[in-house]
Amino acid sequence: PTGFRVLTGDRPTGNLHLGHYFGSLLNRVRLQDAGVETMVLVADYQVITDRDGVGPIRERVLSLVADYLAVGIDPDRSTIFTHSAVPALNQLMLPFLSVVTDAELRRNPTVKSEMEATGDRPMSGLMLTYPVHQAADILFCKANLVPVGKDQLPHLEQARVVARRFDERYGRAGDAPVFPRPEALLSEAASVLGTDGQKMSKSRGNAIELGMDADTTARLLKRAVTDADRHITYDPVGRPEVSNLVQLTAMASGRDPHDVAREIGDGGGAALKRAATEAVNEMLAPVRARRAELVADEGHLLAVLRAGNERARAVADATLDEVRAAMQM
Ligand code: ADP
Ligand code: NA
Repeated sequence: PTGFRVLTGDRPTGNLHLGHYFGSLLNRVRLQDAGVETMVLVADYQVITDRDGVGPIRERVLSLVADYLAVGIDPDRSTIFTHSAVPALNQLMLPFLSVVTDAELRRNPTVKSEMEATGDRPMSGLMLTYPVHQAADILFCKANLVPVGKDQLPHLEQARVVARRFDERYGRAGDAPVFPRPEALLSEAASVLGTDGQKMSKSRGNAIELGMDADTTARLLKRAVTDADRHITYDPVGRPEVSNLVQLTAMASGRDPHDVAREIGDGGGAALKRAATEAVNEMLAPVRARRAELVADEGHLLAVLRAGNERARAVADATLDEVRAAMQM
């Protein structure tokens, strides 16, 4: 009822972790709770854009849905759906591909860096057209607000260009535009760092996953990188590793990082790690308990997806009808 429709989502490429939690999941739940209509895309087809031997995707999809529900995404208010269950999403690709040029696709930063990374090896057509897939993901539901990090801005710009060109080419004088021009909801949050001091990532082995148990969390945090100075301070530029643990403790307990650092004082890295472990485990305990119940009930997860897929299909079919009508098909 706010007039906003948000599109968010993830590729089912691994378990969600604290980087996702603080970097995007909390924000999604906040938007949902503020009454913003939220579409949550499990981008299963996107997995094959840059990985060919990923193995069974279905299990990863259910695990992702369990993560979503466990952190408070409410399937009655938010639409959780998979790309592969919404054929109209792919059907929108054809008209969208017709309004972009190969040159602008090659200029897209993600495509460009992939071309550089592949060098002389071939790059798939799916990778080249990746920005158009994202445009379809956003425009199929007429999302007008898309939470993104800075690196995603060019994709959003491509979606705006597709929307504009489609209306320029097919709109008739006096008709309302078929598509909104989606706006970015730019995330200000800094990256959450992992136990090695690098950006917490699905693939780097440095992540505290939402579904991990408390002992594993303690073990990982015990191995976290710190430095030789026993006096704990919060100084993200000068002492990134120590400050990351301070920050993690602060975020997990809803406190100010300077207060956390002051309290630990001369306790050193060991005390800091204990504080971080306690705060993270306490914050995640209810999430983990819910998650454990959810993964034990596959039937429920499948039912959530079925309902979300049905809603998403209805939305996508309605958009495709409008697109065909505009194209006089
Ligand atoms: P993919 O493999 O599909 O690129 P990622 O797991 O790398 O997915 O990230 C998806 C999104 O989750 C990012 O765009 C960002 O918003 C958020 N995210 C991931 N890792 C972090 C992190 N360490 N700190 C903050 N946000 C993160
Ligand atoms: Na990534």
